[in-house]
Amino acid sequence: MNDFVKISKDNDVAVITIDNPPVNALSPGVPERIWAAIDEVNADHAIRAAVVIGAGRTFVAGADIKEFGKMTSGASPRRTLLPLLLHIEDSGKPVVMAIHGTAFGGGLELAMAGHYRVAAPTAQVGQPEVKLGIIPGAGGTQRLPRLVGVAKAVEMCAEGKPVLARDAAPLGLIDRLIEGDLLSGAGAFAREIADKPMPKTRERTEKLGTIADNGAIFSAARDAAHKKQRGMKAPLAAIEAVEAATRLSFEAGCEAERELFTDCLFSDQSKALIHVFFGEREVGKIPDIPKDTPLMPVNRVAVVGSGTMGGGIAMVFANAGIPVLLKDVDQPALDLGMGKIRKNYASSVQRGRFTQEFVDERLWLITPVLTYDAFSDVDMVVEAVFEGMALKKSVFADLDRACKRGAILASNTSTLNIDEIGAATSRPEAVIGTHFFSPANVMRLLEIVRGKKSSKEAIATCMQLSRKLGKIGVLVGNCRGFVGNRMFGPYRREAQFLVEEGADVEAVDKALFDFGNAMGPLATGDLAGLDVGWRIRQEYRHLEKPGIRQPFAENRLCELGRYGQKTMKGWYRYDENRRASTDPEVAALVRKWSAEAGILQRQISAAEIVDRCIYALVNEGARILEEGYALRAVDIDIIYLNGYGFPAYRGGPMWHADTVGLHNVYQRVCEFHQLHGEAWAPAPLLKRLAEAGKTFAEFDKEQGAAGLLERTNSA
Ligand code: 3HC
Ligand code: NAI
Repeated sequence: MNDFVKISKDNDVAVITIDNPPVNALSPGVPERIWAAIDEVNADHAIRAAVVIGAGRTFVAGADIKEFGKMTSGASPRRTLLPLLLHIEDSGKPVVMAIHGTAFGGGLELAMAGHYRVAAPTAQVGQPEVKLGIIPGAGGTQRLPRLVGVAKAVEMCAEGKPVLARDAAPLGLIDRLIEGDLLSGAGAFAREIADKPMPKTRERTEKLGTIADNGAIFSAARDAAHKKQRGMKAPLAAIEAVEAATRLSFEAGCEAERELFTDCLFSDQSKALIHVFFGEREVGKIPDIPKDTPLMPVNRVAVVGSGTMGGGIAMVFANAGIPVLLKDVDQPALDLGMGKIRKNYASSVQRGRFTQEFVDERLWLITPVLTYDAFSDVDMVVEAVFEGMALKKSVFADLDRACKRGAILASNTSTLNIDEIGAATSRPEAVIGTHFFSPANVMRLLEIVRGKKSSKEAIATCMQLSRKLGKIGVLVGNCRGFVGNRMFGPYRREAQFLVEEGADVEAVDKALFDFGNAMGPLATGDLAGLDVGWRIRQEYRHLEKPGIRQPFAENRLCELGRYGQKTMKGWYRYDENRRASTDPEVAALVRKWSAEAGILQRQISAAEIVDRCIYALVNEGARILEEGYALRAVDIDIIYLNGYGFPAYRGGPMWHADTVGLHNVYQRVCEFHQLHGEAWAPAPLLKRLAEAGKTFAEFDKEQGAAGLLERTNSA
């Protein structure tokens, strides 16, 4: 027998061990070996029962996701686990599934085909397929409701959230929780049930409910999916498949599931979400920073500046159990900062996200300070003072004096040059950017900015730390705005141009909301504060290239004191609950300003709004990629999904462009270039790839580590 699956005997119990590291996915070969092992068990008269268990850190984490792309491209034949699962269920000897780690997707489907399931209390079970844009494809939508009931099955299949084995036991999914050694507990359990009836999940119907009861469950699930998973097809398909379980025989239900699964698998959404799954893992791989790069300890940290970002960053560290000093200039500023942190935590307790006990422990980890005295003990500092080079340099000079050698000195700057900040210290190798997104304790993205001299150890440590903090770290180069904000500039520029050319404010936001973005660009401006960009534009006005059209509407709104939500007026008008409403005054002002500037007013379609804004992102993304400030196109995608509310089911701006076809995107960019001038000059990389009939994904694959290094070193 092949290595994937081993069979051994513990007296009268056979142990079938699935061993396909790292996560025991059901890659080609594994299902076949399990089938053969079941046959071997049935042929051996000395065996009374079998235990199926995973080697290493987990039970089976699902089908092999790498196979899906091969199936849809035709490179591999379509495979299904359904016959194997029937074979297990029809075994003449009872099969006990012993679960630790994760039984996800095909892994849970495999487990449900066993006659019994035992698990470590901390194991997790789930049908997370919707996160990949698909639904369970091996009877999961048919067996799960038979074990846990319709309501829970719908929730698990449509939302994809895992459930702890300890919580799954009372639901009927796990027959016994095993504390201590799982294999010996599973063996003892197998002996207990060896002569008992062998329940087949597919034959059970007692939890399938009545049509009357189920109607309300399905309609509530559909409402929730439309709201919480807006624009996604898979959750609705998952609900439909579970509904089939309640209306059809098991066999017909599996057939319905198969059709829905196939539709989803071949959809653009699924391809995009699979790209995201692998992309989130890819961004952690930095070509010149090997996996075994020594990491620096980060056991105690300090944050300088207790404002919007500093306070949030202190909470991020505290939430991860890391003690943090929080420094500000004077007691009132510090009291204000700590007050906001307390209020933030109190609202988390109120919403049931944290317990009071958890919050008390976290608050205890944050020590407010007014001096650098205790900084000599910390392993890392994150600076989050006002945005200004002179101030940042003086703070870093102070940190250089106050901190021990070996500490990481990080800046949360959103625009300033990390090399220049590093030059204010005697140890630029310790200086790096850690660009959190607002609100820092909520947003998952962390851009890690590599200065020319940042050490590999500091980079590797920050990448690793991001995981511990519950963030996704993406390494970016040191250019103005880094990756995310540099692209956001042209995106928001186009939104303003569109209004100046005649589009309604609401129409611009609605088009991008309907595209799938969490918020429209103008409403986002109001939320972040229009004055922030206005001040930055004033500071960098000297860098504007003459002859290139600049938007004026936001500058003018700011001159009128309309900064957005903070002043109750911006692009929209806000009430005391921050609810937005259309402001006719803005429409009238913009029309007047546009007439004065001689801008022709016209009807603008939602499709043009989306193309203008999204292709502005793509064009700038292509420049960033070619200049080496992003390692890969997929890094840009992960940044946009986790920091800017881009819809995951479109895979990120660069993947979206690949899906539309780079030739089509390039054509449109050329049209905009002709109509709107130099701001739309096509990025050379976009042109090259489009003309060669290639994609950004192919660019990522083809250039390899050497190409990446060459580009990053020249950045
Ligand atoms: N298929 C292929 N590769 C997988 C995989 C899978 N199902 N699950 C994980 N991997 C790979 C990862 O890509 C990664 O590879 P790398 O080291 O080369 O980057 C490696 O395994 C380790 O994964 P993680 O870094 O994610 O390890 P963690 O310990 O952080 O997480 C996990 C482990 C919780 C299992 C997580 O990997 C996960 O959630 N995996 C996906 C589970 C899933 O979605 N299963 C359903 C698949 S679809 C299915 O089963 C369809 C069925 O209904 C027919
Ligand atoms: P903020 O104005 O809310 O807070 C700045 C804090 O720094 C204030 O509490 C101030 O008293 C304090 N401070 C000033 N000088 C100090 C010093 N010498 N020592 C200690 N504390 C000092 O500013 P915000 O928004 O938190 O921004 C901080 C940094 O984060 C900036 O570099 C900004 O560009 C960046 N950033 C901001 C984002 C945002 O959305 N607000 C997003 C990402 C980065």
